[in-house]
Amino acid sequence: MTKNNFPHLIDLDNYPVSSWDSITNLAIDIKRNPHIYVGACNGKIMGTLFYEPSTRTQMSFQSAMLRLGGGIIGFDNPANSSVAKGESIKDTTKIASSYSDIIVMRHPLEGSVKAAALTSDCPVVNAGDGGHLHPTQTLTDLLTLKAEKGTLSGLTVGFCGDLKNGRTVHSLLKALCCYDNNKFVLISTEELKVPTYIKNRISASGKEYTEVNTLEEAIPSLDVLYMTRIQRERFGSEEEYNSQKHVFCLDKKKMKAAGKDMIVMHPLPRVDEIAVEVDDDPRALYFKQANYGMYVRMSLILSVLNEDIKTKPLLTGTKMPKVCCHNQKCITNFEPSLPHSFRNYGGVLECEYCDERLLLE
Ligand code: NCD
Repeated sequence: MTKNNFPHLIDLDNYPVSSWDSITNLAIDIKRNPHIYVGACNGKIMGTLFYEPSTRTQMSFQSAMLRLGGGIIGFDNPANSSVAKGESIKDTTKIASSYSDIIVMRHPLEGSVKAAALTSDCPVVNAGDGGHLHPTQTLTDLLTLKAEKGTLSGLTVGFCGDLKNGRTVHSLLKALCCYDNNKFVLISTEELKVPTYIKNRISASGKEYTEVNTLEEAIPSLDVLYMTRIQRERFGSEEEYNSQKHVFCLDKKKMKAAGKDMIVMHPLPRVDEIAVEVDDDPRALYFKQANYGMYVRMSLILSVLNEDIKTKPLLTGTKMPKVCCHNQKCITNFEPSLPHSFRNYGGVLECEYCDERLLLE
């Protein structure tokens, strides 16, 4: 592999849909026959750079690598690394990638993991970049749907909660648009609706979506209900968060209106949007979903290290050094060395790091 064609996973659409299917199929085989894969990554090292809190993503990646016989290095608290001394993502990644065969990174700024991949000397996997994307949660979700519903097509999927800041929602919606006949019901308050760039993707794929603001009106029609937490850490102020918290709560009473085959998913952690009483309902699949996450990450690590995946270049747009992205959470506004790069849609520019659109003056 040369530096330019590492199979980085920044957004799921870096990989062809056929690779998503082969990764989830391999995960099913690993779950069934784990003994075959023991030692498959002997001598390999995964670097985990977690600049933001994580339980499932980090532990499932680490457990995945250890089960495959590899080793792990990294940090889960940037305060204990040279980041606290002001080191840039570019430099931290450059060094970490010289000690690792694969890097898994989570960071609060949008587009930050793509920025890291630009300087990395090994493949980089996005474990969540701010409120933007979370492709390995999506692989987990696709595997859960495939294993539990038997299909990724023809599903009516309800997304509920913080659809504005929920990166798992953005990645999964984009992915489900690539399969036939899926429909989406977007359940949120006015303030926490799905961002326009995601709605544009849904419309461009020819899929239908409706936006509603109560769970009650959506539940009876759903095959899948994907609940999410209100993302407290992404709000500008505590006041704004307080006005949005506790709005949605799935409880036993609401589950009565759901079909007998509707499944409930949640990337976790849960705060109060699913009452604990729902956990014993056989349709509540969120804990099982988290376990699928480990198998899908074993499969992803193997596929990346075996170079089984075809990938696209990280930046394909036009370099415009003088144009700045308007998104204050975009990495390009924090790391001055990054090339500013935009896709041009007839006068509308889309930042290649965070997908924010801006009008040309
Ligand atoms: C999610 C995340 O970090 O985006 N959790 C996860 O990775 N399983 C969801 C969340 O934090 O709400």
